[in-house]
Amino acid sequence: MLFNAKIMIWKTSPAALTAWRSLMWKLSSAAGLCSGPGSSDSSVSDEKPPHTPVMLKEILHYLDLKPAQVVLDMTFGGGGHTKAILNTVPEVTVLALDRDPEAISLAQQLAKQHFGRVKPLLGRFSELEALMSNMNIKPGSIDAVLLDAGCSSMQMDQAKRGFSLSKDGPLDMRMDGERYPDMPCAADVVNTLDQQALASILTAYGEERHARKIASAIVEARRVNPITRTHQLASVVAGAFPASIVHARKDRLHRPAHIATKTFQALRIFVNDELKELHTGLCAARSALKPGGRLCVITFHSLEDRLVKHFLQDRDLSHLEQCHFIENKRNGRREKLVDKNRECNKNAHWFPVQRKVVTPEKDDVRENPRGRSAKLRVVLRR
Ligand SMILES: C[S@@+](CC[C@H](N)C(=O)[O-])C[C@H]1O[C@@H](n2cnc3c(N)ncnc32)[C@H](O)[C@@H]1O
Repeated sequence: MLFNAKIMIWKTSPAALTAWRSLMWKLSSAAGLCSGPGSSDSSVSDEKPPHTPVMLKEILHYLDLKPAQVVLDMTFGGGGHTKAILNTVPEVTVLALDRDPEAISLAQQLAKQHFGRVKPLLGRFSELEALMSNMNIKPGSIDAVLLDAGCSSMQMDQAKRGFSLSKDGPLDMRMDGERYPDMPCAADVVNTLDQQALASILTAYGEERHARKIASAIVEARRVNPITRTHQLASVVAGAFPASIVHARKDRLHRPAHIATKTFQALRIFVNDELKELHTGLCAARSALKPGGRLCVITFHSLEDRLVKHFLQDRDLSHLEQCHFIENKRNGRREKLVDKNRECNKNAHWFPVQRKVVTPEKDDVRENPRGRSAKLRVVLRR
């Protein structure tokens, strides 16, 4: 896509990005940009808030682990799912992957408590095959895989990570933290890309109806001051709309949602290349699993869920747009869609365990509202 061109410049010229960033740090009157030099955040408590695992009992049920099996937790996060697996299945071994160094240091602590049963792997989905091969773990040898997509509460709740519009912090959003210092953060994106590229990101990854209006407001605002803080971005977006509609949208629990919520989602997905990573992760899970091995995938928004659904139907994902079009025009076209699925499934890699998508129970949503939009899909590897 066209906006990838600018990112390519950053990727091929890290020096330019570093120079640009240090200029931005100097310009930023508040704390530093992207948790770089001089950045600090007094609002972060020393004690990390726990991440409440979503659909825990459903995951334990559908993974259906037997003693001494090997499970790959591709999204260790706060370790909630892994801990429950360790505590309920005797002698199970967990390979614990996460791209976030903070999550992996928790996995290392857990590995000390459960000697030999937790193997922490720091890296992205796209690095999994290499990580497994370094550990001499053969493809096709894993009994079950869990992929719980998106961000953890530990990431969302720490202002210094810059994911949350309700907590003021540097506009960062990199799940990898400082692992790849040349990787653009959200502030790099909003301050550098042109208006059309920004609008494309908001449309593609936030499904934001007002993408062009918001992109225009961002470009206007950054002419005056670079946008370096989460609250600053939230107020730039809010400033493009009448006050009466800033909280007019509703989330799934019918609570008011800030007008910038989709902008934040879009930037996060773009910064972390989340959809491409998710697709690569699903391919890696497929090659890691034994025949008959189980895959449980939890998604949190329609872009992720559509991708996972199509992947598990063995559809060619380069036709994602076309499939989406057909779904939107479903009336009267049902037969065509079913035929297409059948055609795609001739060489299927998966058996569905559960025909219907599993969603959290009402009580669980009340206790853990972040899980409100979760969807669980469960399949067996052929
Ligand atoms: C929803 S949290 C997982 C929470 C975990 N299941 C628990 O119970 O605490 C998602 C985690 O996946 C990690 N993650 C997201 N995308 C990733 C990727 N492409 N590669 C590796 N880890 C990823 C994030 O850093 C985050 O820690």
